[in-house]
Amino acid sequence: MQTEFEHAVVIGGGTMGSGIAQVLIESGISVVLVEVDERRSQNASDHVRNDVRARLIYENGRQESPEVEKATAEVISRLTTSVGLPSPGASWSPDIVVETVFEDVDVKSGVLKEVEATYPSCPLIATNTSSLSIDVLASRLSRPRSFVGMHFFNPVPRSSLIELVAGKDTAAETIESAQSVVSKLGKESILVHDSPGFATSRLGIILGIEAIRMVEEGVASAEDIDRGMVLGYKHPIGPLRLTDLVGLDIRLAISEYLESKLGSRFAPPQLLRDMVSRGDLGKKSGKGFYEW
Ligand SMILES: NC(=O)c1ccc[n+]([C@@H]2O[C@H](COP(=O)([O-])OP(=O)(O)OC[C@H]3O[C@@H](n4cnc5c(N)ncnc54)[C@H](O)[C@@H]3O)[C@@H](O)[C@H]2O)c1
Repeated sequence: MQTEFEHAVVIGGGTMGSGIAQVLIESGISVVLVEVDERRSQNASDHVRNDVRARLIYENGRQESPEVEKATAEVISRLTTSVGLPSPGASWSPDIVVETVFEDVDVKSGVLKEVEATYPSCPLIATNTSSLSIDVLASRLSRPRSFVGMHFFNPVPRSSLIELVAGKDTAAETIESAQSVVSKLGKESILVHDSPGFATSRLGIILGIEAIRMVEEGVASAEDIDRGMVLGYKHPIGPLRLTDLVGLDIRLAISEYLESKLGSRFAPPQLLRDMVSRGDLGKKSGKGFYEW
């Protein structure tokens, strides 16, 4: 089992990849962030730099200072970018690779196969998929024992959870290595066996769609349903406000996917379909269950 993590490769520098690269470099691990072209690489590294700096300013009592600039430079010195996978050398090879490219099984499989071929001794190859089957991705790999799901949450620097998803061939030491990384990042993990929606999406969506059905049936207003869960169950945010933040189109897609895999209890409510067809997608469109 790998317990020392010095070098990481993060593939995909979008919303999640830049957040993952950020928490890795903040925890002392050096990262090569891989993107498809120079412009995206530059955007991703600017994003990481700005977020690292913002966090340090916040920790410094919201004050800019030369010390903050120095600390930012020190953290950022652990980040490099690359277009395409960097070749391993005598003094460098990744201890962990995190794939976080588009949510598409063929795109991810292509990237993961290339990772296996480029880093044949890498002990921990993780995917940040939020919905694809770990077993399906693993079936296209030659070393499925070293492969695991590490489902980070958005925004990565402010979320304490990483959902670890074990495929049927994931080795126990791979899971333990992933748990070591989670601890090094100062986060916590839950362990889930590969199944549709893992644990978090599956439970989250059922709560969300039931809340939508309750609005549809006139049981209570969106505000009161949310207040009920916040005040009564100590949820930090109600299921309908959360649906607005995630995007109603995203929730509809997940609901349809889980219905196809797990049955009619995940069927999307008509109200959700109607709102998505009207373009009421939540925060991103300015209107969902709330006005934004
Ligand atoms: N956005 C979320 O809230 C969230 C939460 C948890 C998990 N996820 C998962 O994380 C993954 C990434 O999501 P995202 O929201 O960051 O997407 P995104 O579209 O913001 O970023 C994906 C990035 O991958 C890059 N990319 C694509 N192919 C590549 C390749 N071959 N090599 C290098 N880079 C490549 C793209 O240029 C893009 O910048 C998906 O699997 C998604 O399901 C997303």
